Amino acid sequence: MKVLIVGSGGREHAIAYCVAKSDKVDKIYCTPGNAGIAEYAECAPIGAMEFEKIVAFAKEKEIDLVIVGMDDPLVGGLVDELEAAGIRAFGPRKNAAILEGSKAFSKDLMKKYNIPTAAYENFTDPDKALAYLETAKFPIVLKADGLALGKGVLICNNLEEAKEGVQTIMLDKKFGSAGNEMVIEEFMTGREVSVLSFVDGNTIKTMTSAQDHKRAGDGDTGLNTGGMGTFSPSPFYTKEVEEFCKNHIFQATVDAMKAEGRPFKGVIFFGLMLTEDGPKVLEYNARFGDPEAQVVLPRMKNDIIEVLEACIDGTLDQVDLQFEDNAAVCVVLASEGYPVKYDKGLPIRGLDEFKKQEGYYCFHAGTKFDGDQIVTNGGRVLGITAKGKDLKEARAHAYAATEWVQFDNKFMRHDIGKAIDEA
Ligand code: AMP
Ligand code: GLY
Repeated sequence: MKVLIVGSGGREHAIAYCVAKSDKVDKIYCTPGNAGIAEYAECAPIGAMEFEKIVAFAKEKEIDLVIVGMDDPLVGGLVDELEAAGIRAFGPRKNAAILEGSKAFSKDLMKKYNIPTAAYENFTDPDKALAYLETAKFPIVLKADGLALGKGVLICNNLEEAKEGVQTIMLDKKFGSAGNEMVIEEFMTGREVSVLSFVDGNTIKTMTSAQDHKRAGDGDTGLNTGGMGTFSPSPFYTKEVEEFCKNHIFQATVDAMKAEGRPFKGVIFFGLMLTEDGPKVLEYNARFGDPEAQVVLPRMKNDIIEVLEACIDGTLDQVDLQFEDNAAVCVVLASEGYPVKYDKGLPIRGLDEFKKQEGYYCFHAGTKFDGDQIVTNGGRVLGITAKGKDLKEARAHAYAATEWVQFDNKFMRHDIGKAIDEA
């Protein structure tokens, strides 16, 4: 079969790696893709939000399955448009992708169906938000309702900061229309765990757990980023935690979406915080996490196409989802200055080493070809991933492999997976 992947990051590269392993697949396309994905796929320069062009491309190439990796096109309804044109697509429809697309929606859903999450209020009127803050407890968390590249969350330590936050999100519209509505929620503390899952509208099968490192600098300092590295599994996601989440969060979310007339088919990413009062949902995403996908997918034993088709066909209950009994760590190589300002177009050397070594992966996040040379083309450039028998070995392998690759202004965190030493 012919498969089209929509997206251009490390997540889509990890998806492409799995799709390329499937016996069912003869040809892979990617829009727009990147220089790493080009190893497996024919890349076409069509943006992920150019729906008409994507539909036309899928028709022209007689694509059997489109996999939409990114949040923006999912929330914008790309899956609906593909389906309307008779093209099979993996990912939630627009009315289900709202689970990620609107934080106000997801908070109301959790409240209505008793799914554990931080206490909150939604606001569309900045004056009412400001009045609410006058009597609030600090720290407190402000969240722009819509998609904001993972940057629409502000943790405010006092009233002053919170007032500035309302100004930033709702009045200055720093995150655009994402700030038309805002969630104000209770500040929680605890370890964070990401659990990705496959969902077919009724059945949910969770993948192995992972943890992301969102801040730019060592020791969780600096600005929030799209993610500077991940490890999988999380030693903090114990059997007990898993049991609680199975009973109160995972199936409850799928059932809630169905009950609302918004059946969810695709990947639900549960961003969880393990608080003293038990696990609570920080956020939902409607797609694979990035860089979580880079440590989760290489450990998956199943043929990815079989799993994705089961989600579309509603037969996920018949899939025995299995992961390797090992560990993986991903260290992101970024460009100095990320996430604010950084150079692009810098030549990358040493990439061939990954072709020689089993269990090592170099997932491209922001790269492109400049003639025959692969150059940097984004803040996050590469996700260097390695497996090991346990997390410590995987981490040692991943950091060793970061040395194989060279480009000017190469920047990384040195403490990805350090928390596992405390487990
Ligand atoms: P989100 O996009 O909702 O996952 O938020 C991004 C990050 O902000 C999370 O990964 C947490 O580190 C932090 N965060 C979000 N909500 C809360 C909360 N209620 N309490 C504490 N930290 C939070
Ligand atoms: N790594 C977090 C995300 O994909 O949103």
